Amino acid sequence: MSQKNTLFNYFKRAKPSPTASTDDKKTASSEGKKTVSDGKSTPKGPSQKGNLLSRSTTPKRPRPKESKGGDGKKEKSSSAKPYKRLRLISDDEDSENDQSLANGKAPEGGDVVREKESGRGDADTKPPDEPVLSDSDGPPEDDDSADEYKSGKHELSSEDELADDAVPSEEDSPVKKTPKRKKPSAATPKQTPLSQSRLPGTPATPNTASTPRAGGPSTPVTPRALGSATKNKLACFALDSERPPAPAADADHWPHLQLEFLRPEKRRDAAGRRPDDPEFDPRTLRVPADFLDKQTPAMRQWWVLKSKHYDCVLLFKMGKFYEMFHMDAVTCVKELGLLYMKGEHAHVGFPEASYCRYSASLVAKGYRVVRIEQTETPDMMQARVAKSTKKATKFDKVVAREVCQITTMGTRTFNAVEGDACEADLSYLMALREQEVDGHLQFGVCFVDTSVGLFHMGQFTDDCHCSRLRTLLAHYPPSQLLLARTTAPQESRTVLNSLLPNVLRETLRPGQEFWTGEKTLRFLAETDYFREDGDETGPAQWPELLLQMTKDGDTLHLTPRPDCELALQCLGAMTWYLQLCLLDAQLLSMRRFCRYQPPDIESQQEGSSGPSSGGGDGSGDLSTADPTQSDHTGRMVLDGITVKNLELVANTVDGTTKGTLLGALDTCATAFGKRVLRAWVCSPLRSPAAIAARLDAVDDLISRADVMDDVTAALKKLPDLERLVRRIHVQGNGRLRAGGSHPDSRAIMFEEGKYSRRKILDLLAAIGGFQRALTMVRTMADTASSFSSYLLRCCLTLDADGGKFPDFADVLEYFESSFDQEEARREGRILPADGVDEQFDAAKDALEQIEQELAEYLREQSRHFGCKVSYYGQAKNRFQLELPERVSHKVDGSYELQSQKKGAKRYWTDTTRRLLARQLAAEEARAAALRDISRRMFARFARHHAVWERAVQCLGLLDCLLALARFSRGCEVGCRPEIVTDQSEPVLEIEEGHHPWLGRSSGGIDFIPNTISMQHGRLMLVTGPNMGGKSTLMRQAGLLVILAQLGCHVPAESLRLSPVDRVFTRLGAQDRIMSGQSTFHVELSETAAIMRHATVHSLVLVDELGRGTSTFDGCAIASGVLRQLLRTGCRCLFSTHYHMLVEEFEHEPRVRLAHMACMVENENEEDPTEETITFLYKLSDGACPKSYGFNAARLAGIPVEVVRKAHQVARQFEQRIEKMARFAAVWREHCGGTAVSPAAAIAAQ
Ligand SMILES: Nc1ncnc2c1ncn2[C@@H]1O[C@H](COP(=O)(O)OP(=O)(O)OP(=O)(O)O)[C@@H](O)[C@H]1O
Ligand SMILES: [Mg+2]
Repeated sequence: MSQKNTLFNYFKRAKPSPTASTDDKKTASSEGKKTVSDGKSTPKGPSQKGNLLSRSTTPKRPRPKESKGGDGKKEKSSSAKPYKRLRLISDDEDSENDQSLANGKAPEGGDVVREKESGRGDADTKPPDEPVLSDSDGPPEDDDSADEYKSGKHELSSEDELADDAVPSEEDSPVKKTPKRKKPSAATPKQTPLSQSRLPGTPATPNTASTPRAGGPSTPVTPRALGSATKNKLACFALDSERPPAPAADADHWPHLQLEFLRPEKRRDAAGRRPDDPEFDPRTLRVPADFLDKQTPAMRQWWVLKSKHYDCVLLFKMGKFYEMFHMDAVTCVKELGLLYMKGEHAHVGFPEASYCRYSASLVAKGYRVVRIEQTETPDMMQARVAKSTKKATKFDKVVAREVCQITTMGTRTFNAVEGDACEADLSYLMALREQEVDGHLQFGVCFVDTSVGLFHMGQFTDDCHCSRLRTLLAHYPPSQLLLARTTAPQESRTVLNSLLPNVLRETLRPGQEFWTGEKTLRFLAETDYFREDGDETGPAQWPELLLQMTKDGDTLHLTPRPDCELALQCLGAMTWYLQLCLLDAQLLSMRRFCRYQPPDIESQQEGSSGPSSGGGDGSGDLSTADPTQSDHTGRMVLDGITVKNLELVANTVDGTTKGTLLGALDTCATAFGKRVLRAWVCSPLRSPAAIAARLDAVDDLISRADVMDDVTAALKKLPDLERLVRRIHVQGNGRLRAGGSHPDSRAIMFEEGKYSRRKILDLLAAIGGFQRALTMVRTMADTASSFSSYLLRCCLTLDADGGKFPDFADVLEYFESSFDQEEARREGRILPADGVDEQFDAAKDALEQIEQELAEYLREQSRHFGCKVSYYGQAKNRFQLELPERVSHKVDGSYELQSQKKGAKRYWTDTTRRLLARQLAAEEARAAALRDISRRMFARFARHHAVWERAVQCLGLLDCLLALARFSRGCEVGCRPEIVTDQSEPVLEIEEGHHPWLGRSSGGIDFIPNTISMQHGRLMLVTGPNMGGKSTLMRQAGLLVILAQLGCHVPAESLRLSPVDRVFTRLGAQDRIMSGQSTFHVELSETAAIMRHATVHSLVLVDELGRGTSTFDGCAIASGVLRQLLRTGCRCLFSTHYHMLVEEFEHEPRVRLAHMACMVENENEEDPTEETITFLYKLSDGACPKSYGFNAARLAGIPVEVVRKAHQVARQFEQRIEKMARFAAVWREHCGGTAVSPAAAIAAQ
């Protein structure tokens, strides 16, 4: 394939990239209603920068030496690598090289360079199938340049060689040497070469989710902008689009598809079990030993790792590239748009610098991604082999590789390698265990967001509808589930199937993987997670919650409390899985645990502001700080059904926050503020004092627009401090230090400089963020004291002055004085100030001493030769004495010639050798000190986590209060809700209430406000025409009540209510096919939950109950439910089209009849298609006599003839029923009141 053709194919692929960037999607969805409702996004262009890779087709010529310049490019010494290099063209070069690329010539700067490395003899051992690409200027500074790599683009000649220090040798080659590379396939997006059915099981199976989670992008890929140069270049190639693509590889014939042990009938797990064995482990694969023995050493390594992680995509590090083979390569071609390498095996790769992008993309598509690193250099490998006492086999002569990270949807940490999060939302890894005890369902749960590290644990009993489980899943939607491989009760499985059909699941074997409570405690006791870092012998500091979950009197904390057994089992499963993903130590050592309790239980517990609901859940409550919380009796309960029906946090169209209450409220400036607000929306307040406290804050803020603007501007500048604190904690963890227990501490990373720079930037960002926050709080001191709001004073006043914001000036001062932050930012490393680090100071002194000695020696030599003598050389060739040739006769036997040039000779002497050795040792000591000093700085920062957490809570609270204030200020008609403290007579009065966002954002609906009064009749029976606004009215009432109890102004003339303990909804029609429930079943089970749990303080919204069955059955059920609700005495809006129901309750004094008014013109009893109905959307007293269903039918586009015919049939039905009623009356009169069934009456006619 010509170069031009390769590029052409790249362009062809880039344009319709399946990994459209998040921002692309966001932009598309924000462009118009249609886009959102379609749930589609229109990628605006290539998702990846179209920089093109240059290949050398021109004769090679040596590349001039480069020295490290101010641009930070890597130094090239004469001891350069023996491999030819291919370069990536930077944006700047693009324009220069456009023409040459278009002409199929290699650009100037893209010449392949052959450089000689002394002392390395492996130049010729590079197998031809290696993805031998490297930028000749060293690793690119950031992804932008490195990301241009697409494996298939770098078509290489057989001379191509790898240019890495840790280059795999021939033995190390994962792919057998082939005489000549084949053309890479074009791999157009249509090609999905692997027929899944041909492989056993579904290795590396993605989550089938096609719908992104709420707020989550489907492909969290950093958006890339195309430079104009790149665009121009792409335009050149666009001309070639007429050409047919290169033939695709015959993907059905990849050799791995022929492997016996992958065939379904032969498939076994690592322990040799067949899939029908109950103990079968689908995560593993048995690979026959004789097959392994036939592999190259590196390929053997690959198969060994694949056999342990069969369900994952292995990103296998070779040199500075991640390589994917066989089925993983096929997956990557399909999902990432990579192109196959030449060779007989399926094989793709990308450079290390692109890891975050490609792994994030795979993870977002539901794959489990294993990052495998080299943990030895070839030199280390050789030293190991040499040291080994037994005879080394060829399989020993391969650099060691270890799994360093397994990333899934539930285990993303956004560390330096993984890259930063693009969304603020948390995504939970959740372990769930159920058990039936005395006919009741019991659930244990443990969940954590691995990017924040707070574990929630709890255990609760549930009803047969799993109401509490549904609520849990609505409040904390998991992105990955850990379940025990047992026959779980049907109820819970159906809930999981219906609510989380696409969520990634891991089924763990009970006992071995889903541990018992006792095993969990024992394991935690035996490990050092809870010991201070580096103090392996010190006492373990168990988290308070875990202590509470162990039996009283058990001082060793090894026996679970019986009512916590399931919760501890879930923690066991979580620990097992985190261990598998190599995240256990990082997360558990943070010791952040809080109790999860179902909100309805919590709300019953007086003052339940403990760890389960307080600041521990990151909800920013500052509850312990807030006196208004002391009398609060829990929260308003919003169960899973209500959260969904009222679309509080995710809409039912595409799962995003658009068109939801959260979407309307969320103008938070910080990522952690957004998370707190989400928690608030799912769990509004109930205590009048607590609500008043938030309302006071909102009022204060509204009255000071200048303060709002200033504080918002300050908050906007803050990074995601909550996630940063966790990341810094991990970086400070001793296990990750060089030589630590975590394999990442041994990994040879080619972008190490970049990662350590990112880590340092994280630290600097956190220090800077907290510094800015502190400055803001100090600046606000005077303003804060003038606020009447307690909450605002709390978060804007330093603790020393009676507030709650921690004064961490001293801590920050330490970091400011101990190293130069500007230099750290620039250089990406921390250089400690004098006196901060002993080890570093000693190395520095030694270097200064050597420098002096070197200078003195040079003076001596100049005197000796009687002319100017200078030092020459770099790195290990330094300190050669360069003297003019004319004085070389003065050289004696102690001078050893090293090199020469015209007119000058260069020598080493014993002294220069000695000084060089000392210099190298001192430099190494300084580097070692520097490596660890960064870690120690991180650890020192993390030690103050309590201070940082409190600061983040204050800032999160402030951010949310500002969001509420902004919403309140934006209400055209708005008022502060009046919360009635006397709760003896529940009340709800909304005067001229608007929908919170209809009319604001919904494309200019003129929303008609409505007045709802439930003082006299607490149950309102609402009738009205179809499309008359009944459902809207109900939703509006629920949302206004929630808004009021969130502590926000509401869009109404006035709103008065006594706090609602729970909002129940039975709205909309949906079925749960996945859980085997019909529409009517769903309707009735939701109703059953209302009848069971509603109290006199609840607000119940029931929309057209009973319409899912026959009229008489439905009407009878509605009637029964209505009576029950009357007995409960709750506030209730009950809409219906059953006019019989209205007749039944029209004289009931506790029921108020109301209807949505409409105006009918040309009323025509004979032909409803002649009628014109105008909806007034006004709630009015009394019942509406008709539903005007034919009008709705006509508006919906049912043909006029059909509507007319339907109307005639309806008239006949009515006449029959009238006759039947008359007949029944006559029958009663003459037969003494014996009842007659309607069916018998009709039959009697
Ligand atoms: N107060 C209002 N002001 C303006 N438009 C409204 C109002 N209430 C409802 N609407 C509009 O009317 C449409 C239909 O309302 P809704 O679904 O509430 O009717 P409905 O009475 O429940 O109908 P059905 O009986 O068929 O379920 C809404 O989508 C909205 O566009
Ligand atoms: Mg309706």
